[in-house]
Amino acid sequence: PLVSGKLLFERANEFGFAVGAFNFNNMEFLKAILEAAQEEEAPVFLQTTESAIGYAGIEFLAGMVHAVKDSYKVPFALHLDHGRSVESVLLAIRYGYTSVMIDYSDKPYKENLEVTRKVVSLCSPLGISVEAELGRLVGREDEVESVEEVLVDPEQAKEFALGTGIDALAPAIGTAHGAFKFKGEPRLDFERLRRVKERTNLPLVLHGASGVYYEYVNEINMYGGELKGARGVPDDDVRRAIELGINKVNTDTDLRLAFISTLRRMMSEERRNVDPRKFLKPAMEEVKEVVKRRIRLYGSSGKA
Ligand code: G3H
Ligand code: 13P
Ligand code: NA
Ligand code: ZN
Repeated sequence: PLVSGKLLFERANEFGFAVGAFNFNNMEFLKAILEAAQEEEAPVFLQTTESAIGYAGIEFLAGMVHAVKDSYKVPFALHLDHGRSVESVLLAIRYGYTSVMIDYSDKPYKENLEVTRKVVSLCSPLGISVEAELGRLVGREDEVESVEEVLVDPEQAKEFALGTGIDALAPAIGTAHGAFKFKGEPRLDFERLRRVKERTNLPLVLHGASGVYYEYVNEINMYGGELKGARGVPDDDVRRAIELGINKVNTDTDLRLAFISTLRRMMSEERRNVDPRKFLKPAMEEVKEVVKRRIRLYGSSGKA
């Protein structure tokens, strides 16, 4: 059933595991995620970004979730990922989202604090959970000033938690979105993460957590893709982050790679096929496989 994100955050924090949060833009990804969660008996966050909403329309995205909410027994929250405005949050509330992220992490700290506090005052009475972010996730190509300016400050995290009343915090500890996360070796600031947990005791969220598995990258490169230099977060680092207090892990890129690698291979192998379903079905199956793999990595199997 559809549940509040508050329930998922609290349980994961209490029992020391992480709930998988998976992005979807269409029926194929949504179904793959729900089927995987059901087979693993795991709770999940189903999340949509503003650009997902721009692509499909919120009526379709929220509508699909509400249509199947009694068909799946595992608890799942419908979450707005990286909401960039109060208007976005209000739209999500209107469409029955049970969790939101307000992301003012690239704005001045005071603005982040004030807008996040306002979002909490709107959502909390409705039982909708609020996630916010401190520090910035930067891409491999970004010009980074200094680490101190980009990563979360644990003291500030404590003040922010107390000042806003958020349900969960995403601390920037060195990850980035997409398939190209690190120039050289992956480096997450675990000590910083440990201090944020110690100071806040909040459920914490790891963004940019995809593993960017070489099987998929290889297959994409083999069938005409160009993903040279793709690099993700090693599974061991995800496990360590969960041990140190991460309770929600966001994964989008791994699902995209599973889907696209299957499409590229199938379309080059099945040259006479013009029925999209013959390509989409195996692609959807591969997304389901990678979601199950991630759920097991997070220790959330059997936690529904
Ligand atoms: O926010 C992280 C996503 O992986 C990017 O998603 O392309 O739907 O904005 P988007
Ligand atoms: P990845 O790009 O590593 O999958 O991260 C997704 C994410 O953080 C969505 O909010
Ligand atoms: Na989010
Ligand atoms: Zn993110």
